Amino acid sequence: MLKKVQVQDIAFQVYDRGSGPALLFVHGFPLDHTMWSGQLEAFPECRVIAPDLRGFGGTDPTGDSASMQRYADDLANLLDALDVGGRVCLCGLSMGGYVAWQFWRRHASRLAGLILCDTRAGVDSPQAAEDRRRNAQRVLTEGLGFLADLMMPRLFAADAQPEIVAATRAVIERTPGRGAAAGLLAMADRSDFVPLLPEVRIPSLVVCGERDVLTPAEEMRTMASAMPDARFVEVPSAGHMAPLESPGMVNAAIREFIRGLHRV
Ligand code: MLT
Repeated sequence: MLKKVQVQDIAFQVYDRGSGPALLFVHGFPLDHTMWSGQLEAFPECRVIAPDLRGFGGTDPTGDSASMQRYADDLANLLDALDVGGRVCLCGLSMGGYVAWQFWRRHASRLAGLILCDTRAGVDSPQAAEDRRRNAQRVLTEGLGFLADLMMPRLFAADAQPEIVAATRAVIERTPGRGAAAGLLAMADRSDFVPLLPEVRIPSLVVCGERDVLTPAEEMRTMASAMPDARFVEVPSAGHMAPLESPGMVNAAIREFIRGLHRV
């Protein structure tokens, strides 16, 4: 189920289980496939694929740079390496959503549907981009402890289960500095997809935790309303990590969505 797959220059760690229409889960920053622990075994009717992006989790970092385009192309190459021929439903959270926009732009013919969780289409403010560039330097010398301190209070709703909060912090602290630095720079330089939202005609599900303070529900509702074929679902009481905090509700929304896509 968890395996290593060589794709060009790097060995990807990827969770790959089952058969049927492919459901591709793309994690947020600075996390790995384990953030989908509430989803990985919840869709027996699908082939569930959840990689660690380059430089995260068990996947090698290569070079000192990355981009959302690079991550998206990696996913397309990984699907080839896994012999996934049909169209996939791509579900990305936060940075995984930024990657999803590029996958849509560059590999649209491979997509059956998009699920965008706790993410946004717009870019960073100049100050936020500057902060990311500074943090990219720091993680290389200090590791990710300081970044975990900065991010943890904003990732979860205040009453989230302590076990999932602690497990997420551990994943962040294990993330290699090089992979995180490359991810921070890639996020700072990412493209603005707000003007393209009316062109995203593919069936889409937009999911957001009611208490998400990083990518607020109001912003995601507006994003969904600019997309021609998107449905918006707000997850009561959840924060930015809605799929981990409220897997039952998020999975029900995903199940209904993929049934509509594939009639499985
Ligand atoms: C994430 O969860 O992937 C990050 O919070 C995204 C970001 O920092 O923009």
